[in-house]
Amino acid sequence: MYRTHYANQIDKGLENQEVEIAGWVHRRRDHGGIIFLDLRDRTGLVQVVVEPTQGDLFVEADHLRPEYVISVLGSVRLRPKGMTNPDLYSGEVEVVPLRLDVLAESKVPPFTLQDADSVDELLRLKYRYLDLRRPSLLKNFELRDRVVWSVREFFHQHHFLDVETPQLARSTPEGARDFLVPSRTQPGSFYALPQSPQIFKQLLMVAGFDRYYQIAKVFRDEDLRADRQPEFTQVDVEMAFVSQDDVLQLMETMIRYVFSQTMAVDLDPFPRLTWQQAMDRYGSDKPDLRAGEALIHLTDTVRDSTFPVFSAAETVVGVVVRGPNPSRKQLDEMLRGAKDLGAAGLIWLVQGTDSVRTNVKALGDELLTVLAKTANLAVGDVLFVLAGNRDETLSLAGQLRLLAAQQFSKMDSGWKFLWVTDFPLFEWSDDQGRIVSAHHPFTMPHGEDWERIASDPLSVRSQAYDVVLNGVELASGSVRIHRPDWQRQIFGVLGLSQDEINTKFGFLVDAFQYGAPPHAGIAFGIDRLIMLMAGAKSLREVIAFPKTAKGSDPLMDAPSPVDSTQLHELGLKLDTP
Ligand code: AMO
Repeated sequence: MYRTHYANQIDKGLENQEVEIAGWVHRRRDHGGIIFLDLRDRTGLVQVVVEPTQGDLFVEADHLRPEYVISVLGSVRLRPKGMTNPDLYSGEVEVVPLRLDVLAESKVPPFTLQDADSVDELLRLKYRYLDLRRPSLLKNFELRDRVVWSVREFFHQHHFLDVETPQLARSTPEGARDFLVPSRTQPGSFYALPQSPQIFKQLLMVAGFDRYYQIAKVFRDEDLRADRQPEFTQVDVEMAFVSQDDVLQLMETMIRYVFSQTMAVDLDPFPRLTWQQAMDRYGSDKPDLRAGEALIHLTDTVRDSTFPVFSAAETVVGVVVRGPNPSRKQLDEMLRGAKDLGAAGLIWLVQGTDSVRTNVKALGDELLTVLAKTANLAVGDVLFVLAGNRDETLSLAGQLRLLAAQQFSKMDSGWKFLWVTDFPLFEWSDDQGRIVSAHHPFTMPHGEDWERIASDPLSVRSQAYDVVLNGVELASGSVRIHRPDWQRQIFGVLGLSQDEINTKFGFLVDAFQYGAPPHAGIAFGIDRLIMLMAGAKSLREVIAFPKTAKGSDPLMDAPSPVDSTQLHELGLKLDTP
């Protein structure tokens, strides 16, 4: 035993008592010959005071440097008046050592924890174990632990089975590139690390497990962003004998449970929008409901206008911001922002007391008045107008809506969840020059749309749904196809021949021939959830040992070359420059 107390258990209730504490030297200050040490452990800081009268102990303390590991046996005393620190739990007391042991010395760290925020991230990742000593990062992992615990609690209470599925598997089509693992015993053959446990969880439904969940590590070789890591964790769920509504209700209950248990937050019920509604109203399939009003459709309003930009446009759409009374500089920044997003142009209208100001005088007074009236502009409101072809203009307006909310500080706070349902079943892939599944090929089409599956596949809606939180896609799921003939039909629309279906998915279609129950499921990106809950900007703040944007780990220096013996055993020859 190195300690009787943690830092955050030491307060004036322990006055004159002996305690044993252990941790790192967070900071050392020398004042008037006295040495003040802040000792840091997982819970916080406690001040240790060593005076010159303490002989050998003082000499010992004088050797201490930041990040040395020490243990101290000492007695607790009240700090002198005026010397207390209200920011610390132990801020009213200090520890006077009777014994002080150095358990480990430390080299001078490449950066101090206090300055880490301004240090290059690559350096911090190389010394991740030092970076993780920062209380602000530790806090994220404490939150992560509580969230995972409450997720498990919820699923256990609702009779879900936690089942592990293989990491060495066959490629599952989730849309990203696979990470491959060569087989030694079958040279020339490869496992794929799972992009999700999708097929396994469906097979568990065929097996009759009824309710499955797993906190599953999954792998995707795709271009990385702040909210994308090559390996990440899903709360993966599947249920048999359920409808889409059953899944939505139970998963919403789960998220509400997690927020109430871990943050004492009582969430409002999640609104639901179909994909079509989300696109029309917000120009996005993951709308951020904190960013003010929905888009304003102006196409009908300006239909008869002679203003050439409007008369040539398929769609005219507006983004309104209430009451910012914008400066010319702010409006210019919005014009620049719109250009960066790819807009050919942007019109703004600002409602003044007597008239409407605009950057495009050619609109004319009459049109200005009509636009201002349609958008219900009050004094100080601004309306941004975009025109062009439908899909592109809506998408630009959706992005502009977010930009405007940020620019004019109109972003609401709080947790804005929603469900987006009825996604298209297929989408066109320019890369592949063919249609692909929008979610994955196991997703059930909308009953009413089956008849168009061959004739007009891109118009078919699916029984797929997403959870969106504050503009981030948090979870995706769907009702699955559970009949072998239907599954073959969908593979056929995707252009797979019967032979390809048999080689790639034969085992699944086979399984469906032995009594597959109707089933549906979902997967949450738990790293993303924690990132949002923690108010973090990147997944790297909530994953202990994350990868850089280039997919590397500067700490272990991975990926790394392997020696020729290893390659030889695997039957591999390199073909790199
Ligand atoms: P999907 O591919 O949408 O669905 O993934 C589910 C959720 O995982 C998160 N996510 C990621 N998080 C971090 N880094 C990434 N690279 C990354 N990619 C995805 C997102 C996403 O919503 N098998 C289906 C689920 C199902 O149908 O049940 C699937 O994996 O939050």
